[in-house]
Amino acid sequence: MTKSPPSLIVAIDGPSGVGKSTVARRLAKQLEVPYLDTGAMYRAVGLKALQERLDPADQISLEPMLEGLDVRLQRASDGAFHVLLDGEDVEQHIRTEKVGAAASAVATHRQVRQQMVTLQRRCAEQLGGVLEGRDIGTQVFPDTPYKFFLDAKPEVRYRRRYLQLQEQGRDISYDQVVEEVSERDRRDRGREDSPLTFDQTYTLVDATDLTVDEVVAEMVLQIRQR
Ligand code: DC
Repeated sequence: MTKSPPSLIVAIDGPSGVGKSTVARRLAKQLEVPYLDTGAMYRAVGLKALQERLDPADQISLEPMLEGLDVRLQRASDGAFHVLLDGEDVEQHIRTEKVGAAASAVATHRQVRQQMVTLQRRCAEQLGGVLEGRDIGTQVFPDTPYKFFLDAKPEVRYRRRYLQLQEQGRDISYDQVVEEVSERDRRDRGREDSPLTFDQTYTLVDATDLTVDEVVAEMVLQIRQR
């Protein structure tokens, strides 16, 4: 019997507003593997906490909610995994800054991380995938040879996020965006469990002066060279 080849797993980690989603989605299409936005999973948990009127930063009060937490992943026709919360696709409800801040807070909870990481591994182990988040190359798939840390100057990230929110018709000032994104960065990099970081096993990509196409092309090149 021939042994099937190991699935292709690509890890893309990096801070908020750097354009990970756009890059990861395009790269996944090009490589013909599923795309998994792991941030969407933490956003679903953050949304659940807000729906239950819990303080996302209060770890103890989250615990009863975590017992019955129903977060699942479903492969959509576009090849991406969509996040279901209590059986419902929540994509339309998780893209606000409020839910983003709640996601960053619940993501510091060890049990939340364990549950999400288990799901992420289960989905990608069989089919492979491009996974983007904060801890993919450090915790979720540390053995994959394809790890990228996507970064850009903070001002570029703030502006990107601001324009994105404006396009969605959200009423938010540039200064508010700066405050919220930098608070999220601080928390994601400073938490005890699985902080946002990288090491020498990563390829660092600075997207400050690159287009999405250029970033994707650079990643494809690096993957093919290995
Ligand atoms: O990528 P995003 O902005 O949608 O992520 C929302 C939050 O979820 C982020 O601020 C931190 C958390 N997160 C995480 O802790 N680990 C991941 N792999 C992905 C996201």
